[in-house]
Amino acid sequence: MKTIIEPFRIKSVEPIRMTTPRQRRQYLRQAGYNLFRIPAAHVIIDLLTDSGTGAMSSEQWAGVMRGDESYAGASSYYRFLEVVEQLTGMRNILPTHQGRASERILVEVMIGSGQAGRGRLVPNNAHFDTTRANIEHSGAEAVDLLTSQGTSPTHLAPFKGNMDLAKLETLLDERADDVPFVMLTITCNSNGGQPVSLENLQAVRALCDRYGKSLFLDAARFAENAWFIKQREPGRAGQSVSQIVREMFELADGATISAKKDGLVNIGGVLLIRDDALFRKACDLLILTEGFVTYGGLAGRDLEAMAVGFREVLDEDYLRYRIRSIQYMGEKLLAGGVSIVQPPGGHAIYIDATDFCPHIPKMQFPGQAVACGLYELGGIRSCEIGSVMMGELAVMESVRLAVPRRTYTQSHIDYVIEVVLALKTKAHKLRGFRIIEQPQALRHFTARFEPM
Ligand code: F0G
Repeated sequence: MKTIIEPFRIKSVEPIRMTTPRQRRQYLRQAGYNLFRIPAAHVIIDLLTDSGTGAMSSEQWAGVMRGDESYAGASSYYRFLEVVEQLTGMRNILPTHQGRASERILVEVMIGSGQAGRGRLVPNNAHFDTTRANIEHSGAEAVDLLTSQGTSPTHLAPFKGNMDLAKLETLLDERADDVPFVMLTITCNSNGGQPVSLENLQAVRALCDRYGKSLFLDAARFAENAWFIKQREPGRAGQSVSQIVREMFELADGATISAKKDGLVNIGGVLLIRDDALFRKACDLLILTEGFVTYGGLAGRDLEAMAVGFREVLDEDYLRYRIRSIQYMGEKLLAGGVSIVQPPGGHAIYIDATDFCPHIPKMQFPGQAVACGLYELGGIRSCEIGSVMMGELAVMESVRLAVPRRTYTQSHIDYVIEVVLALKTKAHKLRGFRIIEQPQALRHFTARFEPM
């Protein structure tokens, strides 16, 4: 039997309240056509993000009850340490409340506070928004070095998250003194959840060694990345995902992890730094804003849930189902004539909104039109990643359908496909938008729109 099914059954359910297109038109008007302003109770299928939106297992909930809430040295902390050390091979481990807290501390440790980073630059395959923001906050520049394959939405390649080694070498050659450290984001969220190969990781490591730079992973989706390596990289099929994960981390000097993705928890993060002196600095900074080193801004129960989640995510039946489910959605949309980022990545499908409604000019936000159309037609909440979110920096007008982990069933995925394909048949009727109200920064969260 080759059929792939959800490798779990459901013990606890959360009702979805059905709404009608008429109601949703009204909700859209009230929300100023911004899906971030729509109450979640008015959403049928929520694909806004895969972050913190997954379902915990019965073992994780059992862990929540076991959680030790002692201020210092809780037994939950030691269980968390043991799992993360096994997973990564690293000993210097800090819990944080989420990925960006780890990023903030890493930047302060490696670059400094205030505008200490001015004139310096941090290369990455592609920085996630919060990593970029933290680096820029230090005055440094965040540089993306994806390969040309990686930035082409439809080019089919197995490892489109890879860093362009020639570009990294040139940069290190010309400006080695200005580079405080190098990062690699696995999988690479910014270009569609695309994986990085072990070969690329090894080559980046070698360049870092040559120029005396440390390499940090942004490892939010480390297990999905390892699954792609096992499937796609020559000679890796026989290794277990946990061996591959271990090998990935062994190539790094540390990592920031948002556990809200492959940690399978609703809140939590990790910061890893091999160097003892730098780690001690990070401990001091953690205490300043997050909490004591044995809880890092989390409750004991959260540490317990993370410890279980980091083990469960390595289950290969789970990863097979997870990646296949996204791939299936991609195949059906492509077959129905919807243009998407290819090949599908590990956590989301990105619809090319310019192709979906070619009659809407970039200035009228085609991604916003598609996202609002999906909500009105089927109650699906997605996320515009294009000119609304990125402004002038947008390389593509896209709509992300990010799939929460273990949360929706196959029939929900089929429903999403049905709605996207139905919207496609009347895409010519979609209208663009104009912005009528917006804040100074991060406008996609709160801006209000009006249909043209
Ligand atoms: N790194 C990557 C690659 C991410 O995708 C995210 C979050 C973070 C870091 C920050 O982690 O949210 O725990 O502070 N991505 C979410 C998303 C928000 O929707 O893609 P965080």
